[in-house]
Amino acid sequence: MRKFPETRLRRLRYNPLIRDMVQETDLSYRDFIYPLFVCPGEKIKKPVGSMPNVFQMSIDVLIEECKEVVNLGIPAVILFGIPSHKDEKGSEAYDDEGIIQRAVRAIKKEIKDLVVITDVCMCEYTSHGHCGVLRGDEILNDETNELLAKEALSHVKAGADIVAPSDMMDGRVAVIRKTLDDNGFQNIPIMSYAAKYASGFYGPFREAAESTPKFGDRRSHQMNPANVLEALWEVQLDIQEGADIVMVKPAGPYLDVIYRVKEKFGIPTAAYQVSGEYSMIKAAALNNWIDGERVMIESLTAIKRAGADLILTYFAKEAAKILNK
Ligand code: PBG
Repeated sequence: MRKFPETRLRRLRYNPLIRDMVQETDLSYRDFIYPLFVCPGEKIKKPVGSMPNVFQMSIDVLIEECKEVVNLGIPAVILFGIPSHKDEKGSEAYDDEGIIQRAVRAIKKEIKDLVVITDVCMCEYTSHGHCGVLRGDEILNDETNELLAKEALSHVKAGADIVAPSDMMDGRVAVIRKTLDDNGFQNIPIMSYAAKYASGFYGPFREAAESTPKFGDRRSHQMNPANVLEALWEVQLDIQEGADIVMVKPAGPYLDVIYRVKEKFGIPTAAYQVSGEYSMIKAAALNNWIDGERVMIESLTAIKRAGADLILTYFAKEAAKILNK
């Protein structure tokens, strides 16, 4: 290896053109998946207090939003539903007339060239806010899997292009895969939230999706933030069960997990820059403590550099506008 003074790394940083030539990671709007919250009603665009520029939208408003997303070149959205009624078993989750099912049908009728992904979970639909059916305080794993499979099937029947189970029950990818296959949907991919941590960074989302658990927390199914070998195990199991894309969530504080998942398995890997990551950057930017645009692009570039092929981010539209220039 040569060393200084023959080697001067600053030569390749000398001007912007040269810097661009040797740039290793290229962030693109084609990498993004835009999360959207859909609620009942008409002409509703209700701001989420803890997430500047994020809204709950009724289906008519959602359609306009999706058109804008397509125009920006963003390939996909992921939908979260706020149901009109919640009950113990989260029955609107798997109701063919549920909010997500109606939203998907409406988007598919109006818009081409947009991949519609649906989040498959119970927490937005249950009266207790937990991700599955309860016996006492316990979330029942296998019983929940049956409902998740019904939910996924009903999303796909409505026209969903990809389903994304986010519940973290054991074995749910296998049950969903089998249910889709048995019903003729062999070609619908599953993007599993494979390594999903029990994270404080989800706080603002729970306001957006109205899904805060009424008691307890999600630590009996989501992962301990201190673990990474367990994440590899989770990912391996999901791949064996039929996951086509695996996800790490959150993203920014878990770049090592993204890196190791991608290195070990090399399959399409998504990372979710979650609500808290978004809101922290937004809040600091609104206070002029940081340059918001710059930190946004830096945070997304870092997630891609770590190995993510796809990034779920509330910044998708804002970042696409900059990257399109
Ligand atoms: C569960 C789900 C959650 C998020 C995505 N899917 C919340 C949770 O596990 O409590 C969080 C996303 C975010 O914080 O942006 N349906």
